[in-house]
Amino acid sequence: MPGLFITFEGGDGSGKSTQAELLSSWLADAGHVVVRSREPGGTELGVELREIVLHRRGHMAPRAEALIYAADRAHNIATKVRPAVERGEIVIQDRYLDSSVAYQGAGRVLDPTEVRDISLWAAEGFMPDLTILLDLDESIGRERLDESRTRYDRLESEKSDFHARVRAGYLALAEADPARFLVLPATDTVESIAAAIQSRVAILLR
Ligand code: TYD
Repeated sequence: MPGLFITFEGGDGSGKSTQAELLSSWLADAGHVVVRSREPGGTELGVELREIVLHRRGHMAPRAEALIYAADRAHNIATKVRPAVERGEIVIQDRYLDSSVAYQGAGRVLDPTEVRDISLWAAEGFMPDLTILLDLDESIGRERLDESRTRYDRLESEKSDFHARVRAGYLALAEADPARFLVLPATDTVESIAAAIQSRVAILLR
């Protein structure tokens, strides 16, 4: 039985982590070996890179930022994700290269195609079997974060037009690759989103 690589994408406050946890429990209860990961920060090296890319003070050149995400990705895929999938395990991950295209591309400084190419090089072309995009109007995402946060990371502090471009970037990616993406409105109830995800994953497991 080959493993699976499933990623969750969406703006900040879209409920990705909640749904990733629910899917992981559902799969584990059914007897699958589930590995959780996240980007940035799915590995020990990644935790250090995450701290730098999200919380380091001062200006960071856009290409430097993109390359730190790519470095985190390269290490996460090579040492954690790919080996697990090859062992037949199911990897459930918060964010992957679509995040880089949507966020680093949304600043309008970097070309989304170049960002994608760097990520693909970093990950040796390893792509998810399924990507779940929790689509959310950026102003609702902000409200959700405001309720739960005292400290914003560098990306969360960006202005709302940036987050609107992130959302548009994600939707364009999903439209270009409908076979890989499942797009769900993040405003649906937690239960109905979880159920929709389970039906889609059940098809992959057949
Ligand atoms: P996340 O771990 O979802 O943050 P939190 O746990 O605080 O909700 O993501 C951290 C931030 O990193 C998020 O704002 C999006 C950004 N990001 C990029 O800009 N590019 C990338 O390639 C990745 C993986 C994340």
